[in-house]
Amino acid sequence: MMLRTIRNIPMLQFVTKRREPAMYVCLCNALTDRDFSPHMAGGTSSVSMVYRACGCQPQCGKCVPFVRQMLRQAAEVEGKSAGAD
Ligand code: FES
Repeated sequence: MMLRTIRNIPMLQFVTKRREPAMYVCLCNALTDRDFSPHMAGGTSSVSMVYRACGCQPQCGKCVPFVRQMLRQAAEVEGKSAGAD
C-alpha cells in the first residue's frame, strides 16, 4: 500500500517552491535584476547594450555601476571580459 502525503502532489510542490524576490536595480526605469539577467550573457558586452536590450536608457545613472558589476560577473562566469561602456 502506497501512502500519499500532501508533498507528493505536484501542484503543491510548485506552489511551495520559494523563489528569491526580485531586486530593483534601476528605479528610474523600474528594472529588476530579473529584467537585466537575460541580457547579461550571450555577447552583451556593455552597459548601454544591456539598457538598449531592455528597451530603455539610463536616466539618473545611479544604477550604471551595479549593472556594470553584473556584466563583469556574468563575463567571469563565461570567461570573457566585459563592463566597458
Ligand atoms: S536608477 Fe537607473 S537610471 Fe536612475
